[in-house]
Amino acid sequence: MHEIGTSFNEPAPYVRRGNGLAPSAPEPGQLVLVTGGGGYIGGVLVERLLNRGYRVRVLDRLYWGHGPLTGVSDRIELVEADVREMPASALDGVDGVIHLAGLSNDPTAEYAPEANWQMNAIATETLGRNCLDRDVQRLVFASSCSLYDGLPPGMHDETAPICPRGAYATSKRYGEEALQTLANEGLCPVILRNGTVYGYSPRMRFDLVVNTFVKDALLRSELLLHGGGWMWRPLVDVSDVSDAMIAAYEAPAALVRGEIFNVLHSNYQIRELAMLVAGSVQLLGRSVTLRETPAPRLTRDYECSNMKLASTVGFQPARSVVEAISGILSRIDVEDCTMLSDPRYYNIRWLELLRELTPQIDQYKATL
Ligand SMILES: NC(=O)c1ccc[n+]([C@@H]2O[C@H](COP(=O)([O-])OP(=O)(O)OC[C@H]3O[C@@H](n4cnc5c(N)ncnc54)[C@H](O)[C@@H]3O)[C@@H](O)[C@H]2O)c1
Repeated sequence: MHEIGTSFNEPAPYVRRGNGLAPSAPEPGQLVLVTGGGGYIGGVLVERLLNRGYRVRVLDRLYWGHGPLTGVSDRIELVEADVREMPASALDGVDGVIHLAGLSNDPTAEYAPEANWQMNAIATETLGRNCLDRDVQRLVFASSCSLYDGLPPGMHDETAPICPRGAYATSKRYGEEALQTLANEGLCPVILRNGTVYGYSPRMRFDLVVNTFVKDALLRSELLLHGGGWMWRPLVDVSDVSDAMIAAYEAPAALVRGEIFNVLHSNYQIRELAMLVAGSVQLLGRSVTLRETPAPRLTRDYECSNMKLASTVGFQPARSVVEAISGILSRIDVEDCTMLSDPRYYNIRWLELLRELTPQIDQYKATL
C-alpha cells in the first residue's frame, strides 16, 4: 500500500510508504463524535474521517477559535461545549467516539491543575460511562507516551510499570484506568498512547519539539540543544496519529477492547531532530546554527516500542520527520514572522492570555 508524495519538496515520482490503514472504512456513513476536534490533531483527523465517508460531529469549546475548522465547517456538525458539561444530546445518533478534548501538555496542565483533572480525568470517565449507558460501544482515547517518563533507560512497551508524575500524566493515567474498568462492563475503549506529534495541521502547534525547531530555525536561525540534546523521545506524524485513531476505531472489538497501544514512528534524540530541521531549512538557502546549552533542571527522556499496534492491528506509522518538516515548510509562509510567533500556536501562552483577558472582555461586554 503506497501513497504518492504531494509536498512540493518531494520529487514527483516519490512514493511514500503506507501505514497499514485499510483503504476504505468497513461501515462508512457512521456518525463519529470527535471531542477536541478543533485542535491540532483534530484539524487533520476530522478531514480524514470525512474523506473516508464518515459523518462527523465535533464537540469543542474552541480554545483556538473557529479557524481550524473553516475548511470542514459545511461538512460537520459542531457542538460548542465543554466536555465537563457535555449536553446529553451530543451523543444522539452517535456510533462511536474519538476523545481528544482536554489540556494537551505538561505546562497547561500544571498551570491549571484542577481544571486539567476535571477535563482529562473526570470528564473522560464520565464520557465513558455515558457511552456505556447510551450503548455507544467504541471510544478511542488520546493518551500519551509521556506516561513512560521517569522509568529507567531502555525500550518500554505497554506492560511497563509506569509511575506517572505531574498533573498531565497522572490525569491521563486515571482516564486510561477508568475506561479499562468500563471495558469490563461492556464498553469497547481503545487507548492510544501517542508519542510527541509533529507535522502540519490547519491548527498549528509550534510548542511541540519538531515544530518548535522549524519555527526557531526560521525566526532565529539558531537551534538550542539543551544538555547537548541527547534525550530520547518517541515521535509520530499528525497524519499517522489520525490514521491510528481511525484504525483503532475500525479494528475488531475482540482485538482491541480495553487495550493500550503506543503510537510512534520512531524514537529520536533531540539532537538528531535539530540536525534534520537545520538541514531541511538550509535547503531553502537559509543558514541555521546549532548551539549546545546547559541541561535544564527537568528533562524528559524515554523510549517506547510500537510493536503491539503493528502486530495486533497491522498499523505502523510511516511518515518520517524529514517528510513532515518538508511538508510544514511547503505549507506555511516561511517569511511571516508574525504568524510564526503568534501566541495562539503556543498552548500555554494562549491559555495565559485567555485567563488574563477574560475579566476585561467580560467587563467590556457589560458596557456595550
Ligand atoms: N499533540 C501531541 O503531541 C500529543 C501527544 C500525546 C497525546 N496528545 C493528546 O491528544 C489530544 C489532542 O491533542 P492536540 O495536540 O490536538 O491538542 P490541542 O490543544 O491542539 O487540541 C485540543 C482541543 O480540545 C479542545 N478542548 C480543550 N479542553 C476542552 C474542554 N474542556 N471541552 C471541550 N473541548 C476542549 C480545545 O479547544 C482544542 O480544540 C489531547 O488529549 C492530548 O493530550 C497529544
